Amino acid sequence: MPVRLFLSSGDLVADRRFDFARDLQLKGDLVAAADLLLQATELAPGFASAWFTLGETRERLGERDAAIEAFRKAEIADPEDRHGARLRLMLLGAAQLAAMPPAYVRALFDQYAAKFEAALVDDLGYRGPALLFKAVLAARLAVRKPAFFRRVIDLGCGTGLAASAFARQVDHFIGFDLSPRMIERARATGLYAQLEVAEMVEGLRGRLDASAKMILAADAMVYLSDLTPVLSEVKRVLAGGGVLAFTVETHGGDGVILGEGLRYAHGAAYVRARIGDAGLTLSRLEELSARNEDNAPVPGLVVVAAKT
Ligand SMILES: C[S@@+](CC[C@H](N)C(=O)[O-])C[C@H]1O[C@@H](n2cnc3c(N)ncnc32)[C@H](O)[C@@H]1O
Repeated sequence: MPVRLFLSSGDLVADRRFDFARDLQLKGDLVAAADLLLQATELAPGFASAWFTLGETRERLGERDAAIEAFRKAEIADPEDRHGARLRLMLLGAAQLAAMPPAYVRALFDQYAAKFEAALVDDLGYRGPALLFKAVLAARLAVRKPAFFRRVIDLGCGTGLAASAFARQVDHFIGFDLSPRMIERARATGLYAQLEVAEMVEGLRGRLDASAKMILAADAMVYLSDLTPVLSEVKRVLAGGGVLAFTVETHGGDGVILGEGLRYAHGAAYVRARIGDAGLTLSRLEELSARNEDNAPVPGLVVVAAKT
């Protein structure tokens, strides 16, 4: 993503060294950048942005062990881990696959909110909501049920693109998102009856049993490693006959991996198994890509399940 988080060290000289280091990094002088970043951390040992950027720079220099050390220091300096140092450690094989730090997701999308739709739709050809719409219509047609839903929950609603795709099909939209800035944008659409800044599993926990007719998650479960907690809450909150529709990124192997783009990819067998474990019935699972990266479609799944 084209945005970077900067957390000031509170020390003017250390912040300046960081700025110079970033200039050098952008010009490709990685050795000089690493040297200045190290100086910045000596001046301000709790300077998370400098430790994180040092980790990235060392990684690009091929210094794996030193990069791991810097990412670990970034995590200690900012225990909420707004830079996502833990994710870098996972990619480097220095930490177990685990959940994404919520503060990282919030910081990422708060910074990204203003550019989100142009970046995702125009630059990455994002088509998640349109794919979900087609898949839900096909699934309802197959069981001869109308594709109209009274109350729908949109998990990781972002700026409201999924609500926009389904607007004519739904009476009452509820949206949850970790990012207040994304929620502000969703509110501006006027499409949602209720919006909450909430982690999606927590948001569902606050809802009554059998209170939603459909639950959507467009390009949002890519930020969850383990799908078990969310699917279990979805099962509880869906009314009988209700529908779950979501997209994920996928990969050819088993289980869940963290991709280079810092989103999880869920294998098709894993998705089928977790849906079955949650007591939902799979209606459709199609290999379809919701977005491009480097001008190529990112492998993905479009999934529709039902509570029978
Ligand atoms: C790529 S955007 C997709 C937004 C929207 N669904 C769409 O199709 O345009 C992912 C959104 O999910 C939100 N998100 C990621 N993980 C989340 C979580 N665990 N709980 C709630 N929101 C989450 C992010 O803040 C972001 O707004």
